[in-house]
Amino acid sequence: MIITIVGGGSTFTAGIVKSIALRKDELDVKEIRMYDINKERQDTIGVLVDWILHEELKTDIKLTLSYDKAEAYKDADFIFAQMRVGGYAMREQDEKIPLRHGCVGQETCGCGGLAYGMRTIFPMIEMIDDAEKYAKKDYWILNYSNPASIVSEACRKLRPNARIINICDMPIAIIDVVAAALEIKDKENIVYDYFGLNHFGWFTSIEYKGEDVMDKLRKYIHEHEILLPAAYLKDKAALQSKKGSEQNRHTKGSWYYVWKGVYEIMENFPEKLPNTYLNYYLQAKEFVEHSDPNRTRANEVVETRESNLFEGIKKYQETGIVDETVFYAGSHGDWIADLAIALKNDTKARFLVITENRGAIPNMPYDAMVEVPAYIGKKGPEVIAQDNIPLFEQGLMMQQLNCEKLLVEAAIEGSYEKALKAFTLNKTVPSMKVAKEVLDDMIEANKGYWPELK
Ligand code: NAD
Ligand code: G6P
Ligand code: MN
Repeated sequence: MIITIVGGGSTFTAGIVKSIALRKDELDVKEIRMYDINKERQDTIGVLVDWILHEELKTDIKLTLSYDKAEAYKDADFIFAQMRVGGYAMREQDEKIPLRHGCVGQETCGCGGLAYGMRTIFPMIEMIDDAEKYAKKDYWILNYSNPASIVSEACRKLRPNARIINICDMPIAIIDVVAAALEIKDKENIVYDYFGLNHFGWFTSIEYKGEDVMDKLRKYIHEHEILLPAAYLKDKAALQSKKGSEQNRHTKGSWYYVWKGVYEIMENFPEKLPNTYLNYYLQAKEFVEHSDPNRTRANEVVETRESNLFEGIKKYQETGIVDETVFYAGSHGDWIADLAIALKNDTKARFLVITENRGAIPNMPYDAMVEVPAYIGKKGPEVIAQDNIPLFEQGLMMQQLNCEKLLVEAAIEGSYEKALKAFTLNKTVPSMKVAKEVLDDMIEANKGYWPELK
């Protein structure tokens, strides 16, 4: 197997490579290739990846750092994608511009997510075309690149036959936190049901070894007034600390509010466990109130995950010592590597994936890209059929779905009016006038990244 990592310079590459290397026999992996458009960034991450493969785990997996598409994709079996178009500098704009107009500013939700989507659609299509041209005929692209919802809709529309599966690590990150809160050590024995769009869904049941644990979880969240494990809560300073292990990155910095928000939502709607991202839609006003428009998550990430990682690599180059806490390893990499194993070895293991609905949720459109459980074998996802979903969730999902579809149509047609409709339809935006102000600022900030809108 040849696995090509697109966005090789990502802060997640080292962790993903570690997960692949730990599964090298099941994946039969001979070569890992990294491909990026930023040579300096990828060359630096490559130093750590080389250490993981050849010093720490002592594998004989070949490592190639490439800046040439033909070389990077040639005969690749798997392409793991995680590009951040525009980098953290543009993420900062996505977060800060809407906040200046009193709207949610977030990486993948609200206007920020729409802006990020507009930047990412065409680079993703280019990547699919490169895979078609150079990779093995039965290649699979497993895509983490955000905003996964908009990306998946654009791929469905523009390249319907592409062998791409879009995925997200948030549901498993939530399950990791649930397991820690309920003191469950063997999280592989947790089975859950879920429906939604990406970053817009609900857990409808969570079982541990066949026993329903939703009630226990509800009690836990109600008593602690947050969904975070008691062990983490004891050390609030560690939660806010800039240094230290990235292993629990979802609990660092402003993520704290997100877990608090789960409690706030469940006090009113206790039946299902919401994906943390629903906070941005259901508590948009409150999010804006506790946000600092001059310091957002992008700033936190640059000052913590990114700087710890690059400083850690520098230290390794100077001293030969690697501090493993500088890079994130765990569920994020395990999930994508396990998905590749299911595809390659036709295991029919159950995963949550973002896939075309095709009747799986009867009262959502046939062509909606939904996030639902599916069995994964060599032919791809076999989606598990569900029942009709209730009015509240269906209404929210339809609004978000149509907003994202309009954004994709706006990008393809170069339509300002459709873009404005997408911004206006988003639940985080209070009026058409505000939508227009944010959109116009976004057009200005995204010059050189967005298609021209007329
Ligand atoms: P990062 O900026 O550290 O890494 C992204 C890399 O992509 C950079 O090295 C950049 O140069 C490269 N890149 C940008 N455009 C490219 C292109 N057209 N072709 C090839 N490479 C390109 O960002 P990060 O924080 O490590 O995140 C990486 C991506 O993974 C982001 O899109 C992020 O949103 C996504 N992500 C998704 C999930 C999920 O649940 N789906 C989870 C974590 C991260
Ligand atoms: C979760 C989501 C990702 C998102 C990430 C942001 O993992 O599933 O889609 O990109 O959080 O995390 P960050 O630490 O960069 O804010
Ligand atoms: Mn995600």
